[in-house]
Amino acid sequence: MSFEITSRTGLLGLLGHPVGHSVSPFIQNSLAEHFGHDLRYLAYDVEPDALEAAVKGAYALKIRGLNVTVPHKQAVRAFLAYEDEAAARIGAVNTLKREADGWHGYNTDMPGFLRALKSDGINLKGRNVVVLGAGGAARAIVSAVLESEAKKLFIYNRTYEKAAEMAAYFTSEYPGSCIVALSAIDELTAAMKAEETQFAAINTTSAGMYPNVDDKPVDDEEFYRLCDTGVDIIFNPLRTAFMKAVEDAKEGNRAVNGLKMLLFQGVRSYEIWNDVEVPDEVAMKIYAGLTDLLSS
Ligand code: ATR
Repeated sequence: MSFEITSRTGLLGLLGHPVGHSVSPFIQNSLAEHFGHDLRYLAYDVEPDALEAAVKGAYALKIRGLNVTVPHKQAVRAFLAYEDEAAARIGAVNTLKREADGWHGYNTDMPGFLRALKSDGINLKGRNVVVLGAGGAARAIVSAVLESEAKKLFIYNRTYEKAAEMAAYFTSEYPGSCIVALSAIDELTAAMKAEETQFAAINTTSAGMYPNVDDKPVDDEEFYRLCDTGVDIIFNPLRTAFMKAVEDAKEGNRAVNGLKMLLFQGVRSYEIWNDVEVPDEVAMKIYAGLTDLLSS
């Protein structure tokens, strides 16, 4: 296979601010290389007031597809010809595909998270789940938890109003779901105990992200004893203080980081842009490369 750039080479890209440490180019260019597609993926640092010009300019340049990341995932919705149902429900778009009538917007964070859980053998169906945090990142996670048919979902956030708003919104989006908003740790642990089952806890806050590697979204030890599974969406560091707290709380507990979610949201974007299916073996090869990249 020739992997040279020619006048026919297609372009994909990432719009974010900042993007300097993004590993998405590694994921997407590895996929292009695997499939022998004549495509390249670049990261573009786009300031918020330049988003409209960037999105429209990319369309004019016939860029095939874009990923969109922080802080543009909500704002980009104003520049789409079409938005898929999951993206509309989550209220955030992270993938744009060029179509004849304009950009079509998708959210691959949600399916990416579900495929990551599956790959790690974590099944939320019928389980009690706590989502920590109620910011932008929590929305795709909450949606994934509800798609997984979890039994009961607690949304815990230090600012109660945001948790309550999110619980009300997703209760109306997923009628029949059982979602409770909490912001006092004693109330959370009491409510968890009352369920008499172990919980899966998912951290969607930025607490513990580099360089604040000793931070945790919750400090209460009792909380961690009530969980048997921890999922962090953070992947820098690869083992967060939250993951450590879950694993140290009890024998048999396990915790995973957010690297597979990152990988599979990118994989799903690539599948949308190119109408292909990326097999697990291919994804896992890229995952090994990503782990090396981030460990070095
Ligand atoms: P994002 O879009 O990445 O989720 P965000 O919208 O700023 O970012 O939301 C960050 C989330 O992490 C919020 O739920 C925030 O709690 P507040 O709503 O109370 O601000 C939560 N968060 C951030 N740092 C935290 C910390 N050190 N401890 C607990 N929660 C934290």
